[in-house]
Amino acid sequence: MTLYPPMSSQTGLQEIINKRFADHRLVIVSNRQPYAHHLREGRIVTKRAVSGLVTGLEPVAKVCHALWVAHGDGSADRSMSNDRGIVEVPSERPEYLLKRVWLSKEEVAGYYYGFSNEALWPLCHISFVRPIFRAEDMDTYRLVNRKFADAVLEEIRNDKAFIWIQDYHFSLLPQYLKEARPDLVVGQFWHIPWPNPEAFRICSWREEILDGLLANDLLGFQLRYHADNFLATCAREIDSHTDQDRTSVTRKGHRTRVRPFPIGVDFDGMSADVQQPAVAAIAHKLVNELGLEGMTVIAGVDRIDYTKGIPERLLAISRLLEKYPDYKGRFVFVQVGSPSRIHITKYKEMNDEIGHLVEQINWKHSVNGWEPIVFVGRAFDYHEVLALYKLADVLIVSSLHDGMNLVAKEYVAARGDLGGVLLLSQFTGAARELHDAVLINPFDRESFANAIHRALSMRPAEKAARLNTMREYLAETNIFNWASSFVTELTKLQGGAASEAFQAQVSV
Ligand code: G6P
Repeated sequence: MTLYPPMSSQTGLQEIINKRFADHRLVIVSNRQPYAHHLREGRIVTKRAVSGLVTGLEPVAKVCHALWVAHGDGSADRSMSNDRGIVEVPSERPEYLLKRVWLSKEEVAGYYYGFSNEALWPLCHISFVRPIFRAEDMDTYRLVNRKFADAVLEEIRNDKAFIWIQDYHFSLLPQYLKEARPDLVVGQFWHIPWPNPEAFRICSWREEILDGLLANDLLGFQLRYHADNFLATCAREIDSHTDQDRTSVTRKGHRTRVRPFPIGVDFDGMSADVQQPAVAAIAHKLVNELGLEGMTVIAGVDRIDYTKGIPERLLAISRLLEKYPDYKGRFVFVQVGSPSRIHITKYKEMNDEIGHLVEQINWKHSVNGWEPIVFVGRAFDYHEVLALYKLADVLIVSSLHDGMNLVAKEYVAARGDLGGVLLLSQFTGAARELHDAVLINPFDRESFANAIHRALSMRPAEKAARLNTMREYLAETNIFNWASSFVTELTKLQGGAASEAFQAQVSV
């Protein structure tokens, strides 16, 4: 298991950057932007993304006065940006530049909904949803990856730069950048799992995708296991060489370092924020609104996605009530499900399935006006999520497959009172680190129901001991460690052999 060096704060990050950045710029690329501007009732409102990724990357962006390139999808984004799509953020005290890339509806359909989320997402997650490979989606994905490359190149001109790319929306971008500027130091973090070679083989564009990713100087995954899958895929599919200690792969003379960097959360920030009076006030409001007075609270917080195992969770609650009817009237299961990728059929179907299940299970087990499940079909903001964590005696994460799952880590960070139980799917990256969670197999309804029973009847001393161990671990491996570890690795590669070899390869 990788334990990060002790640089768990923004100050630590600042030191690394002062020491290592010299005359380089930092460019971050992601599909989602950190700030969106929206028009609401004639006024422009700024919305900061509620995402662990933004929490982790923003301190880096601020310290380096970075350029962050992302898709501008807010309704008022254009009016708030200059003619190159640039806006200084955060607006109250600008510290870095956000460059928005404008995409047409057709581009969003092919690149985001299509190739990223109907092909690559199901290809990389074992959730038994068949990937859909459409040649026209791949064309649009290429085109949008080029558009992002042009946006980066336009802004950096001839400057030296480190480029840090996020996720599966941009598997071709590293190659497009390196073809134009072999001297750039390019790294990418793949936030989702990487499948085994057997699963990846079904993709017709596998060589193109691998070549795209192998243009990176550094490629990060959540787990050693995913990094190993990637290396095995390269060995199987293309002419390449993996070094013996499994830390890099060389293709056509260019070497890509491949490493695990398990992502963390802002542990100190969340531990402190959950104690704010505002959070207590929201918790109080939730108790009234959701009918939680006097109830044990079990909670789930997810995007509505077929990888999250939400139906499995609802069915396990139902099974629990069949096995232990005494629980009737004693707990409420609150599921917050934020709508996600709603134009994709599988996501619509998942929404409908969840709706039907909630209705059926509530009908089946209701007694004297009590129903076991409260479903909230909207995204909670940061403080509402904290309030729910505070109320939740048990939190369930039952993903069928998940690169990491930050909800699990956030819940642990928010339970400084040592009074909750985390039920965690063994198929999440988080389960490889949080050994003191109660691990479950979401595919096995019987043992899942038993695990909920176990969590509900766990003694306070055991809850405290488990949370304590997990909190110690998460305090050490927080989001700032993650960001500084990746940046440190990236900066080690400046002017290295990697770029020179790519130069040679491009000019052949
Ligand atoms: C996953 C991906 C992220 C993505 C997030 C939300 O965690 O790794 O890149 O941003 O899901 O999905 P969305 O499609 O709404 O951006």
